[in-house]
This record gives sequence, structure tokens and C-alpha cells, in this order.
Amino acid sequence: MTQDELKQAVARAALNYVVEGKLVGVGTGSTARLFIEALAGMKDRIAGAVASSEDTQRRLEGHGIRVFDLNDITELPVYIDGADEINVEMHMIKGGGGALTREKIVSAVATKFVCIADGSKLVEVLGKFPLPVEVIPMARAHVARELTRLGGIPLVREGFITDNGNLILDVKGLQIVDPVDLETRINQIVGVVSNGLFAHRPADVCLIGTSQGVQTLKAD
Ligand code: A5P
Repeated sequence: MTQDELKQAVARAALNYVVEGKLVGVGTGSTARLFIEALAGMKDRIAGAVASSEDTQRRLEGHGIRVFDLNDITELPVYIDGADEINVEMHMIKGGGGALTREKIVSAVATKFVCIADGSKLVEVLGKFPLPVEVIPMARAHVARELTRLGGIPLVREGFITDNGNLILDVKGLQIVDPVDLETRINQIVGVVSNGLFAHRPADVCLIGTSQGVQTLKAD
């Protein structure tokens, strides 16, 4: 199976986690886009969606799915999104699409986080994929120096501005043995809006697409 077919399979499998009559939080990226297409097939059976990016909002609305402002809701049973890397503890690197901050906010509100990913995303140690860090523009150089002190090699994502009007630094060279600790340390750098480590709020379930079928990993 191709990587796209594996993504397609997990996107469809994620429909089983959508709660009928309720809202669903929707992530960003190529796997999430396939999930949106699958979700369109059951749009009359959900109350609507909460989007993690402007792109996702446009796509949901394009399918006639009502998108709610996160501030106007009190409960979100499930958030479904892809990942750039995930380990068996369900810690993730996200933000390859630059939507990490809104993804983190929506997933913080959700009761359950369902990660959908093809098998190539499952890793032993996080960090081969450069860690995205969203930064207030005037703090770019300061944050880059601090990230270098933490052992990383930060590079500005050229020509990219987030939905929140900020920059992304992609940090190479990190071997992330303690994702919870590194997430905290990076968040403490002044000028960082958020970073792409999802360890304090890991996924609860991960649907992994393999040539043998969709495997389900669950948090202990
Ligand atoms: C978007 O900002 C990301 O967090 C995506 O969820 C992540 O990059 C996975 O993207 P793909 O589904 O395109 O691999």
C-alpha cells in the first residue's frame, strides 16, 4: 500500500471515534484532510466541528460542515489529527503544517485525542523530524539562541507565517529522550508561543496504518 492509502485507511477508521450528535475537533495536514473528506459522509449525524487552522475551517465549510468557535463551546468529546512523529507513549511531534498552536489549544479542550498516522510516523525516539516552534517575530533571534543552548539547530521556516501571525523555527538535531521535560523547557523561553511537542497532552489512541491493516495503540 502507498503512504496515501495508509493515511486514507486511518482517516476512515477514525470515523468510529466520532460521537454522533456531538462536535468533533479536526486537525490539520494531509491525513486530517483525508479525515475531513470521510467526515463529510456523516455530516448530518454530527453537531458540527471545531477547526485547528484556517485551512481546515475552509475545507470543513466547503463540505457544508458547521464550524464552531472554540470559545462558544463547553465540551468537545474528541479531537482527531495527524502527527509528524509518535512514540509508544503517545508523545508526538506535530506542526509540520505550522498549525501546532491551534492544534494544541483544541486538543487541550478535547476529552479524547485520536492520532491518525501511517506507520512511518511511529518512532522509538522523537526528534528526527525537526521540532517546530512558533515564535513571536521580534523574539526570533533570542529564541533561536536559547534553542541552540538546548542542543538544537533552529532554522526559520522561510516564507511561512502562522495563522496567528507568527514565525516557525524548525529545530533539527534534537534526540528527545524526555519529551515532557523538553516541552516545558521550550515553553519557558520568552517569545515562544508554543512548541510542537505534544507530551503533556499526549494522544489517548493512535490509529497506525500498516500494510497488515489499521493497528490501534492506546495509552496505558
Ligand atoms: C500540522 O501542523 C501538523 O501537526 C500535522 O498534523 C502533521 O504535520 C501531520 O501531517 P501529515 O498528516 O500531513 O503527515
